[in-house]
Amino acid sequence: MAEIVTTETGLDRALAVLKSGEVVAIPTETVYGLAGDATNGDAVLRIFEAKGRPRFNPLIAHVGSIEMATGIALFDPLSLKLTEKFWPGPLTLVLPARQPSTIHPLVTAGLDTIAIRMPQGFGRKLIDAFGRPLAAPSANSSGRISATSADAVAADLGARIPLIVDGGATQVGVESTIVKVEGGEVHLLRPGGISAAEIEQATGRKVLRRQGGAVQAPGMLASHYAPHAGVRINADEVRPGEALLAFGAERAKGSELAVAVLNLSETGDMREAARNLFEHLQRLDRSGAAAIAVERVPTDGLGEAINDRLTRAAAPRDFPQNRT
Ligand code: TXA
Ligand code: MG
Repeated sequence: MAEIVTTETGLDRALAVLKSGEVVAIPTETVYGLAGDATNGDAVLRIFEAKGRPRFNPLIAHVGSIEMATGIALFDPLSLKLTEKFWPGPLTLVLPARQPSTIHPLVTAGLDTIAIRMPQGFGRKLIDAFGRPLAAPSANSSGRISATSADAVAADLGARIPLIVDGGATQVGVESTIVKVEGGEVHLLRPGGISAAEIEQATGRKVLRRQGGAVQAPGMLASHYAPHAGVRINADEVRPGEALLAFGAERAKGSELAVAVLNLSETGDMREAARNLFEHLQRLDRSGAAAIAVERVPTDGLGEAINDRLTRAAAPRDFPQNRT
């Protein structure tokens, strides 16, 4: 089983693990990440193996400084402006990868672009001390619910990784927003911890969403974030045998018969709802219910990311290629 250390005492231990080409689960402000040296092919392979992640699904390179970022990618002025506004923080930029580069090609899965983000807190401190970018997907088995606590990481990946750094529950609770600037326009590839409205405010430009459901980030496949129980979204009533994931003050019909009930936010606070999302899904999953009914959650602001994760938690799972 993985050794668990704290952010206060774990920096040296985490550094030693990274230097040996091994992987370490670390807290970031969004979700826990499974980090490895992005320049070391063995370390990157271990990340894919520990998660059971298909190799065609590229990883985010986490950086500690703008210099580190510009060393591995080519920045346009609008992307730079986004870094000034939102880094360190829950925003990932997809940019043309610099060639040649110290980043191992497995990180980008052979694409000519690279996803980069500068995390807050322990992650950034670790990268600064390590001096190289860290490849880090969310610290969960591929296709499963992302982890927002060290316990959740241990339950899922504990048998397959040597070290977990415990930084408590993560602040944001959903993954970073992923954008790509193309032709001077901001394209949203994955909604996340920074809302489209915040990006529009910072840039004065409309954030564009692709129509027609073409996969933008290779990991954005239909089924993801799947608990073991089935998931039914926008539920107005609870069916026999279901648990209820509630939102706000009013309950769905039949809620008194639910196997278990957890509320994302009784006051309708979207930040609180995002923080609770994955942990509540996991807890309801453990209730033994056959399915989880989810009440309607507003779609504006952070609600776009929350609804995105819920929709994919509810998607059919019978296509192996949908598992990431
Ligand atoms: O908040 C986060 O972003 C967390 C923390 C740990 O930083 N990380 C995370 O990584 O969510 P992951 O691997 O679970 O999701 C990264 C997504 C995947 O959907 C992947 O396909 C996409 O980013 N991605 C990576 N490189 C890309 C690229 N060059 N172009 C488009 N999408 C890319
Ligand atoms: Mg993930």
